Amino acid sequence: MKKVAIEFIKVSKKFCDSEQYAISEVSASIEEGSFITILGTSGSGKTTFLKMINRIYELSSGEILFFGENIKKFPLEKHRQKIGYVIQQIGLFPHMNVEENIATVPNILKWKKKDIAERVDFLLDLVCLPSKDFKKRYPRQLSGGQQQRVGLARAMAADPEIMLMDEPFGAIDAITRLNLQEELIRIQKKLNKTILFVTHDVNEALRLGDKVIIMDQGEIQQYDTPYNILFHPANEFVARLVSSEDILQKLKVIKAKTVMLPLDPQTKEGALRVNENEDLQHLLTYFLQENVDYLIVESDNHKAIGKITLEQLKIKQVEIGR
Ligand SMILES: Nc1ncnc2c1ncn2[C@@H]1O[C@H](COP(=O)(O)OP(=O)(O)O)[C@@H](O)[C@H]1O
Ligand SMILES: [Mg+2]
Repeated sequence: MKKVAIEFIKVSKKFCDSEQYAISEVSASIEEGSFITILGTSGSGKTTFLKMINRIYELSSGEILFFGENIKKFPLEKHRQKIGYVIQQIGLFPHMNVEENIATVPNILKWKKKDIAERVDFLLDLVCLPSKDFKKRYPRQLSGGQQQRVGLARAMAADPEIMLMDEPFGAIDAITRLNLQEELIRIQKKLNKTILFVTHDVNEALRLGDKVIIMDQGEIQQYDTPYNILFHPANEFVARLVSSEDILQKLKVIKAKTVMLPLDPQTKEGALRVNENEDLQHLLTYFLQENVDYLIVESDNHKAIGKITLEQLKIKQVEIGR
């Protein structure tokens, strides 16, 4: 069983100058290694939810556990160093170059110079900015998308156990944003970080999240897989929020692994194989091009784990069409 990275137990937050609760009796557990998106309209409590985890805001009541321990038990600075934090406004230090920005926390932790240099190279490579071209540049010499990549590298510098990301791609144009989303999925798969990613964009939330937390008025309306959010919305609010997405968009956010059937003895070895994370829109094109009855679904290490039939895809399309 996977470890629980973060557990909210009846957490509430009321700001001093406010009548209402910004967060109201929220309970949720976040598994280690999962990519959780938090979706909701402005003022629904998303930012407050994140900021309580790294203790920028203290709770009014309830508890937050970090790998089983109450976050209040840790010294504040130690606690924050275990958590990467990326925000929309990026917040790179303008007078420091890329290398110095990324090295901020390792420097505070007094890492050896050589280790820091290696880490900077590793991270710049990870976010696809060649170190030799970028490490001496200043933030003003970078595009918005490049700055956000450096922001991500900086947040990951000291290898935090979890990453909090608050609308990190909110101010970035649509195409760059798609690229950054793909990079982030790749990075998460490679490093297996626990990520909490806030957005008000329905598509972004469904595409990125293994699970999605839908917030409204300081309460969790549904915490579920993208598939269940789309096809089994917990209430009217969720149903309305996701109903604006069209059929192809919906097929795009459903991954093969979430709808596959178990393997059976009739499944042939030589059948066409697809990765478990491929989306249904993609799979539909295989059926149309290859004229096959079923596809074998395999994991990243190429182990066959299930199958998908054309019949199933038709059922899903009908469900979506409703
Ligand atoms: N520092 C603060 N002081 C007072 N009220 C706040 C503060 N931060 C947020 N709030 C209030 O808490 C509620 C939730 O805000 P927030 O978590 O920022 O929502 P979101 O990130 O979903 O837009 C809002 O009503 C907001 O006005
Ligand atoms: Mg916010």
